[in-house]
Amino acid sequence: MSSKDIELVEVGPRDGLQNEVAEITIEQKIELVNSLSRCGFRRIEVGSFVSPRWVPQMAGSQDVFGGIRRQANIRYAALIPNLRGLEQAIEASADEIAIFVSASEGFSAANLNTSIADSLDKLSNVTRQARDHKLRVRGYISCVIACPYDGPTPPDKVTELAVQLVDLGCFEISLGDTIGAGRPNSVSRMLENVLKRLPASHLAGHYHDTGDSAVANIFVSIDHGIRSFDTSIAGLGGCPFAAGAPGNAATEKVDKALVDAGYQTGLEQTALHQAVKMAQAMVKS
Ligand code: HMG
Ligand code: MG
Repeated sequence: MSSKDIELVEVGPRDGLQNEVAEITIEQKIELVNSLSRCGFRRIEVGSFVSPRWVPQMAGSQDVFGGIRRQANIRYAALIPNLRGLEQAIEASADEIAIFVSASEGFSAANLNTSIADSLDKLSNVTRQARDHKLRVRGYISCVIACPYDGPTPPDKVTELAVQLVDLGCFEISLGDTIGAGRPNSVSRMLENVLKRLPASHLAGHYHDTGDSAVANIFVSIDHGIRSFDTSIAGLGGCPFAAGAPGNAATEKVDKALVDAGYQTGLEQTALHQAVKMAQAMVKS
């Protein structure tokens, strides 16, 4: 991988669709993942195995995994909160799983109904069993810049959690600016702190575009050596904390900015355009 190669991890079918209120059928979700599989991504997060009471849109992820046409060179990932989710991910033959913790207590309570310490404690069992099944485990940290309930997040807290997740066996830590509060200065401060303990090759940026800074935050992360970023096709997902505001950074917007700046993402433009159209139509209907 040259220093100009950037990997965009497509999270639209999970992180995007989980926040969409439109009714989206299993068949539509399968078609979206199949369309994304033609774009050149190496990783696609297909769905999550979480409580359907908490995230109704992700109910049926088992059927989505069962219905997609898999490409040999793509890893299809599932997000899980607990052992029950792990069992379902194994049953669905997910290639990779993602676990998630929050850097703030307020968001941990709102998203997982538990404290940060307790969620880490439960996840140690999950990662152990995942490794027994030879499953790669990715770790997400939410609210790395600020939390909608607790305010600014101390960078030390992000670093401490990132190290703990690596110690649990996560191969990569995705740093989530869940409410899009980050700007290049605050993202730099957070990254410089984490990079004191972990190499850039263990990190990914997951920037939300609520403050229209996702692209700038990606470029400042590239300056710090990071080469992996999560994006969502057509910016699926919106922002659950600000009606009408963008949420996850749109894949096509980030791709264009990177390619224009001379980086390579390996994405195929015609296929990407078709996936964008499909995603837009899906949430409009
Ligand atoms: P709880 O209510 O504290 O615990 O939820 P519970 O054990 O009482 O479970 C509640 C119900 O869920 C029970 O069913 C369980 O059986 C069931 P009931 O008895 O009420 O019928 N349940 C499950 N069902 C299916 N699959 C499972 C599962 N586990 C329990 N795996 C729990 C605790 C963790 C389950 C809940 O809080 C939950 O599912 N949370 C997930 C929330 C979520 O998915 N949030 C979005 C992902 S994180 C994110 O988007 C941020 C990120 O993208 C980064 C960023 O953007 O910054 C990663
Ligand atoms: Mg997100």
